[in-house]
Amino acid sequence: MTDPASVRFEHLLSRQALIGWGAPLGTQRPVTRSALYEFGGGFPDPASFPYDGIAETTARLMKSDEGPAALTYGEPLGYRGLRELVRQKYEMFEGLKISLENVIISNGSGHALSLAMSAFLDIGDAIIAESPCFSGTLVNLRRHGPTILHAPVDAEGIVTRVVRERLEQLRREGRPCKFIYTIVNFQNPSGPSQSLARRHEIVELAHEFDTLILEDDAYGELRFEGETLPSLYEIDGGRRVIRAGTLSKILGAGVRLGWLCAPREMIPAFQAFLFGGGVNPFVSRVATLFMREHMAEHVKLLIDVYRAKRDAMLKGLWEVLRGTDVEINRPEGGFFIWMKLPSGTDRGKLATLAAEVRVQYTPGPAFYPTGGGEEFIRLAFSYESPEKCYEGSKLLAQAILAARGRA
Ligand SMILES: Cc1ncc(COP(=O)(O)O)c(C=O)c1O
Repeated sequence: MTDPASVRFEHLLSRQALIGWGAPLGTQRPVTRSALYEFGGGFPDPASFPYDGIAETTARLMKSDEGPAALTYGEPLGYRGLRELVRQKYEMFEGLKISLENVIISNGSGHALSLAMSAFLDIGDAIIAESPCFSGTLVNLRRHGPTILHAPVDAEGIVTRVVRERLEQLRREGRPCKFIYTIVNFQNPSGPSQSLARRHEIVELAHEFDTLILEDDAYGELRFEGETLPSLYEIDGGRRVIRAGTLSKILGAGVRLGWLCAPREMIPAFQAFLFGGGVNPFVSRVATLFMREHMAEHVKLLIDVYRAKRDAMLKGLWEVLRGTDVEINRPEGGFFIWMKLPSGTDRGKLATLAAEVRVQYTPGPAFYPTGGGEEFIRLAFSYESPEKCYEGSKLLAQAILAARGRA
């Protein structure tokens, strides 16, 4: 028999599969076993998962009339009950009214974003994305091979003045911009929530330049303070905005359920890339049954859980780093703290010292596809307890001081 490893297949791969072939994929990694303080990945808090509730709901589902439907192929757009839950969720948290025809279910919002990319991107097409940008989206985008033009993010979110410049540049070149990708609430990695003025401006730009917006909203419900602002989807009246959402951060990432909310005429373009018997008919029902009864109280609980972690991490960092020229954001929600390291920090030395005290963080360059970001790091406060957020961030802050030669 031929050794399977000797069979060459690369020449048969698709153009899309060949993009970056051989390079590490950089998909979601598991929690690092060697880390004592896991501030690297944006993992939800495992202590907050509703284990008993999910067990009880599953048993109830299996004994109900829906049991057989849960264990067979599902509906092409996803479980109708879950699409209805998404509709209710938007109404409950934002007062936004949508219809079921606007919703298609996916395997998490990473997959939802990928469906939108598949529907609109050919290799070489131009898009505009935030810089820094969620690393998962950069991996996702790479597979579709677009040319990415970047627009920076400041305290008010994506800088719309630069978005306009990019759109004008593309217009001069006679190239359409397929979409503008933006995370409006508690941007991953740098944390800000887009201001109302910017939200209006970006929607106006999409109309003026005949493009679309891909609005990634994985954290919107987890607002610890401040005012909830209307989504781009709402401001636009659901005409040029495709909005991705997820249960990952408000129920559990393991359920792998997300969705796109988009103009109903667009839905078939996404559905065309969804084959395979409906997305998770079984888990969709468990999640829907549970969330239908507990969504409001569960989200309320999570807000308190994550606020306490953010505060503990900020306390630890500031206790040690006050007096330096460090810059640390204070996100109003979400999972991440973004910091600009004090000047003179030796980043290689910091990596070594942080590893010695077993603190995991994500270096800034992971979020800058075309280079840069060395002076930044991202810390996720979502996974560890408040006590560990405090302890671990102090250890990291001490490592930062030591990496400047001033321990
Ligand atoms: C901004 C953003 N979008 C999308 C995702 C994907 O989440 P999921 O596929 O679990 O819904 C994440 C996960 O960390 C995220 O931070």
